[in-house]
Amino acid sequence: MREMKVILVVVFFLIMVIFGRELWSAEKEKKGSPENGRILYNKLKCSHCHRIGDVGGNVGPDLTKEGTKKRGIEWQVKNLIDSASTHPKHPNPYMPKFDKMTDKMLLDLATYLESQK
Ligand code: HEC
Repeated sequence: MREMKVILVVVFFLIMVIFGRELWSAEKEKKGSPENGRILYNKLKCSHCHRIGDVGGNVGPDLTKEGTKKRGIEWQVKNLIDSASTHPKHPNPYMPKFDKMTDKMLLDLATYLESQK
């Protein structure tokens, strides 16, 4: 009878561990979609001013290696909303303020930018 209890407790803990792991990975999947971000980047004509690879203008910085600059998602979102806030030393008014987008759109765009390596 006692063994039965021990087995039940062990099974209970195993279930908790497996279930907990799944919750954990579901949580991690909440990050943005780089694919949606790419679509937004094209729709919003970011390439008028920015280059990625061989495509785009040179009014703003080249974004081909943006993901290697260690800016981070939060910085990218902030920059999209107001690039003067992330470039206090040399604010450049040509970068539009993308402050009418939903949080999800900002996150997707930021994720796309961070995936440029
Ligand atoms: C009219 C021109 C223009 C458009 C359109 C534009 N940008 Fe910019 N962007 C700039 C300029 C100029 C800067 C430099 C800002 C500064 O140094 O203060 C900049 C800066 C940036 C940076 C910072 C790069 C870095 O690491 O310092 C990112 C990222 C960026 N833009 C992304 C975008 C995205 C994404 C879009 C489209 C949603 C976009 N930009 C649309 C002109 C533009």
